[in-house]
Amino acid sequence: MELNKIFEERFSVRSFKDAPVEEEKIQELLKAAQLAPTAHNNQPQRIFVLKSGESIEKIRACTKCAFNAPLVLMICANTDEVWHNRFSGAVSSETDAAIVTTYMMLKAWDMGLGSCWVHYFDPVKLHEAFDLPENLTPYNLLPLGYAADDAAPIPMHFENKAIEEFTTVL
Ligand SMILES: Cc1cc2nc3c(=O)[nH]c(=O)nc-3n(C[C@H](O)[C@H](O)[C@H](O)COP(=O)(O)O)c2cc1C
Repeated sequence: MELNKIFEERFSVRSFKDAPVEEEKIQELLKAAQLAPTAHNNQPQRIFVLKSGESIEKIRACTKCAFNAPLVLMICANTDEVWHNRFSGAVSSETDAAIVTTYMMLKAWDMGLGSCWVHYFDPVKLHEAFDLPENLTPYNLLPLGYAADDAAPIPMHFENKAIEEFTTVL
């Protein structure tokens, strides 16, 4: 699909059909994550593919924003592998995880899958539920699947600021 069409048509899907996501499509999503740019190409992303009944049950217990998705990607970063900005002191992990998540979100739509970016979770709960090592920080969840027939954008989807509101031309 043409990129502009994806930008225009994509919306956050929060209601899914009771159908699994095919393994080939999962692999395509992970390939998108592999090709995403990261600071210094350090590739600190670590992705957990939650698809077993047990994993889905666990993630739904951690957040209401897993919705009824048959697949949830938990995007983490390995804090031992992040790039440190010597000027600002900032580390790249959250940015890297965001780019990886964006790539997968757009690739999902391109393949006919809906998703919703989710921050509504307590990382401590995720650490406990999935026994994550200390050096992995979970940043984003991406519940995924085929959109339910009645899935529709919420009003917020249409609230775009005017370009002049967020742009300064110097
Ligand atoms: C960083 C980030 C965090 C978000 N967290 C949540 C969330 O926890 N739960 C949820 O339902 N939607 C969440 N969203 C989805 C936004 O509400 C949604 O992208 C925004 O309202 C624009 O709508 P659209 O995606 O349909 O265009 C999040 C989106 C982003 C980018």
